Amino acid sequence: MRKNIVAGNWKMNNDLSQTEALLTDLMAQTKTSNAEVMVAPTFTNLYRAFETLRNTDIEVVAQNMHFAENGAYTGEISASMLKSVGVNTVILGHSERREYFNETDELLAKKVKTALDHKMRVIFCFGEELADRKAGNEETVVGNQIKNALFQLQAWDFKNIVLAYEPVWAIGTGETASPEQAQDMHAFIRKTLADQYGYDIAERVSILYGGSVKPANAEEIFSKPDVDGGLIGGASLNAEDFFAIVNAF
Ligand code: G3P
Repeated sequence: MRKNIVAGNWKMNNDLSQTEALLTDLMAQTKTSNAEVMVAPTFTNLYRAFETLRNTDIEVVAQNMHFAENGAYTGEISASMLKSVGVNTVILGHSERREYFNETDELLAKKVKTALDHKMRVIFCFGEELADRKAGNEETVVGNQIKNALFQLQAWDFKNIVLAYEPVWAIGTGETASPEQAQDMHAFIRKTLADQYGYDIAERVSILYGGSVKPANAEEIFSKPDVDGGLIGGASLNAEDFFAIVNAF
C-alpha cells in the first residue's frame, strides 16, 4: 500500500522565532487523514524543529544536502550532519536548486546515492518548464530527469525514494496543474518506473504533486489514483492552510 504524504517545503522562510511560532501553530492542528506529515525548515532551524516535534507525528525534513561526507565545501551540509540533528529525510532536485545552483541530473544522482547510503529517505523533485509543456515535451523532459538521476539505483533502493512531480510553471505562480494534468503525468511516471523496475516496485512508490497546492484544490488533486499527496510551498507557511491540505484525503 502506497503512503499518502504531505510535506511542507518552507524554502528560505522563517527565522528562529518565526519557526517556533509556526511549530506551535502546527502542533495545535488536528490530523484527520492517514497522511504522513513532514515539514522542511531551513538548516538553521532543523534542530529546534526536531526537538520541538520529537513527540509528534510530524517529521522534520531537510531541503538539501551535499554528496560528500565532509571537507572543503564552504556553506554545505552533509548527510551525517543532518542525521546528527534527527533528520532522516531530505528533499533533492528541487527546481529552484536546479535553476539557481545549477544542480544537474548527474550531481543529483550522487546526492541521492549518498542519502541512500546513509539510510535516509529522499523526496526527489523534478518537473518540466512551461516551454517544454507548450512544445509537448513534458514527458520526455520528466522521463529523462528520472532516468538520469535514479535509474542507477537498485529496485530495493526505491523503498526509500518518494517522487515529487513539480511542474516549474506551477511553482509559486498560482497556476496549479489541473487534476487531470497531474494524474496524466503521475501515471506516466509510474509506468516509467514499472518499465524499468517492474510493476510491484512502481506501485509502492509514493508520487507527490507540487505546484500551487492550496486548501481549495488539494482534495481534487489528491483524489486522483496516481497522486499520493503533495509537496507544499507557500501554503505550508500557515498552519491552518497546511493542515487543511494534510486532511484533504
Ligand atoms: O517544493 C514545493 C514548492 O515548490 C511548491 O511551491 O508555493 O507553489 O506550493 P508552491
